[in-house]
Amino acid sequence: MAKTATPTADLSTLTKAKAKVELKRLALTIESHNKKYYQDDAPSISDAEYDALRQRIVAIEEKFPDLVARDSPTQTVGAAPARGFAKVQHAVPMLSLGNAFSAEDVAEFVGRVRRFLKRDADEFPAIVAEPKIDGLSLSLRYELGKLVKAATRGDGFTGEDVTANARTLKEIPNQLAGTTIPDACEIRGEVYMLKSDFLALNQKQEETGDTVFANPRNSAAGSLRQKDVTITASRPLKFFAYAWGEMSDLPSDTQHGMLAWLDKAGFSVNPLIKLCRSVDDVLEFYNSIGEQRAALGYDIDGVVYKVDRLDWQERLGFAGRAPRWAIAHKFAAEQATTILEKIEIQVGRTGALTPVARLQPITVGGVVVQNATLHNADEIARKDIREGDTVVIQRAGDVIPQIVSVVIEKRPATARPYDFPDKCPRCGSHVASEEGEVVRRCTGGLICPAQAVEKLKHFVSRLAFDIDGLGDKQIQEFYDDGLVMHPVDIFTLERRDARSAKKLADREGYGETSVRNLFAAIDDRRKIELNRLIFALGIRHIGEGNAKLLARHYGTMNAFRDAMLAAAAGKTAEGNTSEAYQDLNDIDGVGDIVAEALVEFFAEPRNVIALNDLIGELEEVIPVAQPAGQSPVSGKTVVFTGSLEKFTRDEAKARAERLGAKVAGSVSKKTDYVVAGDDAGSKLKKARDLGVAVLTEDEWLAMIEGT
Ligand code: IVH
Repeated sequence: MAKTATPTADLSTLTKAKAKVELKRLALTIESHNKKYYQDDAPSISDAEYDALRQRIVAIEEKFPDLVARDSPTQTVGAAPARGFAKVQHAVPMLSLGNAFSAEDVAEFVGRVRRFLKRDADEFPAIVAEPKIDGLSLSLRYELGKLVKAATRGDGFTGEDVTANARTLKEIPNQLAGTTIPDACEIRGEVYMLKSDFLALNQKQEETGDTVFANPRNSAAGSLRQKDVTITASRPLKFFAYAWGEMSDLPSDTQHGMLAWLDKAGFSVNPLIKLCRSVDDVLEFYNSIGEQRAALGYDIDGVVYKVDRLDWQERLGFAGRAPRWAIAHKFAAEQATTILEKIEIQVGRTGALTPVARLQPITVGGVVVQNATLHNADEIARKDIREGDTVVIQRAGDVIPQIVSVVIEKRPATARPYDFPDKCPRCGSHVASEEGEVVRRCTGGLICPAQAVEKLKHFVSRLAFDIDGLGDKQIQEFYDDGLVMHPVDIFTLERRDARSAKKLADREGYGETSVRNLFAAIDDRRKIELNRLIFALGIRHIGEGNAKLLARHYGTMNAFRDAMLAAAAGKTAEGNTSEAYQDLNDIDGVGDIVAEALVEFFAEPRNVIALNDLIGELEEVIPVAQPAGQSPVSGKTVVFTGSLEKFTRDEAKARAERLGAKVAGSVSKKTDYVVAGDDAGSKLKKARDLGVAVLTEDEWLAMIEGT
């Protein structure tokens, strides 16, 4: 039966270079399990498997003590996730809400409020009803109208400082608008992701072999809490404001008045919110939102009722950790039971094998479900899911159906444990999983037709070449007919069609016009931005963000290709000490794993030939545009070192990058400025040795002032 891929490489023969890569991978794996366990309450491996991963790190670190990273899982207390976020004490705690599950619970809530306030039995306290957004709550502190701090909820009393991350959200104003702006205000609300954005992001993550999120909420949480704010910036996060903490003045005396003020101040306020004047009103709102739920662009898990008058909110106060003036009316979980007919394996662009459950169609929450993801071999083994089983399914976060459990009593006597294939179902190559990775991959690479087709689909996808009229369906057909086997074939299609007896225009579903349009759309893309081209290559771990980093760093196609070839040439069994590899590794945001993936790609001659063929058909690879407007530091390479006082490292980096500077992790001849805080050590010394300009924080600020 499938087991977690526990690391097995023999320690005695493990080289230092390999150890370094493995440690990084293990740390990432553990971090992702920590997150699932501590934050999502959804562990995906057993305790024993988790311990095995940690023990492997300990063993490797014992052998190579100088590889112990400061943020290694072994250097953190207990198993708590290692994170680089500072703690923030909430001036007013961020508490939770009590729950109501029925109409009676709601009537009881209203009765309690009434009794507490000593109101007449026939008087209804006006109530604001709001959708309960399923994201993560965030508190934003503004002083004199300017955003100064953003903090997650954490345990309600202490959260994490995510200021630099929050600043990248379009729906979080940096400066409050309107005329009544209290000197100090803390605005609270929910960071969330649209379901469609979540699906698109997950697809991208899957293609690049990155973390796939279980639902939009996890995806929003994972995207906001990134140490590298450029990753947060690249994620489509949204924000609804609905509450507040410390306020030096209250611009209104009602909940609905405050929401109107939040709207004027520049926040998004949920448009469905309603002021209710009776219990019937409230319940009608609940039912109506329940009906709209599946069609809303974002996930909600209930509605929230809040007493409208703020003086009453004040009097009602809190009981334990929840306010007496508000309650959450939850929706029932959308579950259903059906039969799992078959487990099929899909082969992705990077060879990842993903098991998919084919279900007897069933309606869950108004949507017909026929497939459910099974994630990986471990998931199937852990839940002991077998073909023929009756399973309970759930639309997790409303989007991707998941299998919650198996109804064992209904298991047919013939059902056998699922044997995860050890050969690729498409090309027959053997299946392997990398150390510390649960994903199993087809090792067929270039010979696997499934990988080839997926690579082509990726090549023409929206963030890559984005060719109108050439989607997944057409790629599959053209591939099956031998018309397009490699990216370059797309660009020779017209020429070949002119010579061919079997014209494209004669194909079913095509005509003169559509073919002409297709050729025009292809010609349109003979000029392509470097970052799109790099992304289109479909190299593992090179998502949209990394492709941009690389494009910005190398500037031109030739510089990029030459550097990658030099880095690939520097690869030896003992590691890679070539200057090109070091330079690649030094790009802030690029680590060993990304660098290794690039080297692996460029070390394969067939990949290089395919790339050269492709470039031969293009007219121009456009260097990546630098951020608009020239700043004194655009195009410069900057290194921040030592402890900075005026801003966090993340903030400094984000600002420098906005101004068009490249931020590097280490000092070299190519560094233009080193900004040194207190206790700057070896980097400062190296800068002096190399004659690189060294600036204090103030000098740096003076230089970028006014930008
Ligand atoms: S009010 C003191 N309003 O639900 C209570 N919360 O279960 C302040 N949430 O932590 C919260 N939508 O993350 C409120 N319209 C809404 C909400 C909402 C989602 C979340 C929030 C809170 C959790 C409580």
